[in-house]
Amino acid sequence: MEAVLRTLNIAFAGQVSGKTLVDLGCLEGGWTAEFARAGFDALGIEARKVNIEKCKYVAEHLNLPNLRFCLDDALNIEQRGRFDAVFCSGLLYHLEDPAAYLRTLGEVTRRVLIIQTHYATAEESVPRQTYSLSDLVTHEGNLGRWYEEYPADADSEWVEQQTWTSYGNSRSFWLEKRHLLQVLRDVGFSPVYEQFDFLANAVTDDYIERHDRSLFVAYKADYDFNSAEL
Ligand SMILES: C[S@@+](CC[C@H](N)C(=O)[O-])C[C@H]1O[C@@H](n2cnc3c(N)ncnc32)[C@H](O)[C@@H]1O
Repeated sequence: MEAVLRTLNIAFAGQVSGKTLVDLGCLEGGWTAEFARAGFDALGIEARKVNIEKCKYVAEHLNLPNLRFCLDDALNIEQRGRFDAVFCSGLLYHLEDPAAYLRTLGEVTRRVLIIQTHYATAEESVPRQTYSLSDLVTHEGNLGRWYEEYPADADSEWVEQQTWTSYGNSRSFWLEKRHLLQVLRDVGFSPVYEQFDFLANAVTDDYIERHDRSLFVAYKADYDFNSAEL
């Protein structure tokens, strides 16, 4: 959380009050609440009723006027307008068409997109075995690997209870890391980079290699920092 807030403070030169932020696939709303506490006008979007009820409980008890939640598929984000900051943590690798979704995020992000995600690697890796990922294949024009979340005919009530998984799709596509980075550039982000200071210790913490998962920061290339009110 601290690493993400550090990036957001840089992105908005410390002036986050009133800036709009959306937290996609917000689970129980803990991150969204922290963004609101930091001063953002924060909206958490979550597809599962069982999760959003917990988010609403959090909102009722915190009583922050700048904290909101809604039950919706994060794929519908365009219907909610644009946001100064978009936080997409633990969601991208649960989508069937991640490149198309990144294009959508390119449309709705005004300044900065922060992504915490698994990615696929071209080489064999620990996560490739752990998650039984497919061979490397091309999907949406990009290399990556398929991850079967649950059987395609899984009962919808059962899916609703799997609170950490994908929602409307039974298989997800993990973009190969270089393709993820290139898609971000293709859909209008630059600079694009990986942030490492979420690790407890850059030398001894092997989280990234153990999970093929990291934190990525992408700024809108067309954002005019000179004319913007900071
Ligand atoms: C792995 S959890 C990540 C939770 C949180 N964002 C985090 O980083 O800790 C994935 C979350 O995304 C939600 N989710 C999955 N697919 C979704 C979709 N299409 N729209 C909205 N939420 C979705 C799940 O219900 C779950 O709460």
